[in-house]
Amino acid sequence: MTEQGLQSGWVVVCDSAKVTPGEGFGIALGDARVGIYRLDDGSLHAIGDICTHEFALLSDGFVDGDQVECPLHAALFDIRTGKCHGPMAFVDVPAYPTREQDGKVLIFV
Ligand code: FES
Repeated sequence: MTEQGLQSGWVVVCDSAKVTPGEGFGIALGDARVGIYRLDDGSLHAIGDICTHEFALLSDGFVDGDQVECPLHAALFDIRTGKCHGPMAFVDVPAYPTREQDGKVLIFV
């Protein structure tokens, strides 16, 4: 079992069409929240969706290139890696391997 309470492996999480450049798509994955993003180059990425400062969903934030800005206090997180570029947050969020297959988005947990 994973930290999210799931069997480890690839999990289908949504249709590919739901994830468009310029905005996050938030999902519940077991006990975790995950934000899925498509960059302008078409690549897909998934990172933890809960800000490490206070409770806010990053997928509700503003996407600028390969960064998402927390909607509450504007901390920046790298969409590719989950790395936090603060302030106000200073702790990274997890990044999940992500791929597409047959029109679906899959995340490795
Ligand atoms: S809750 Fe995200 S920066 Fe404060």
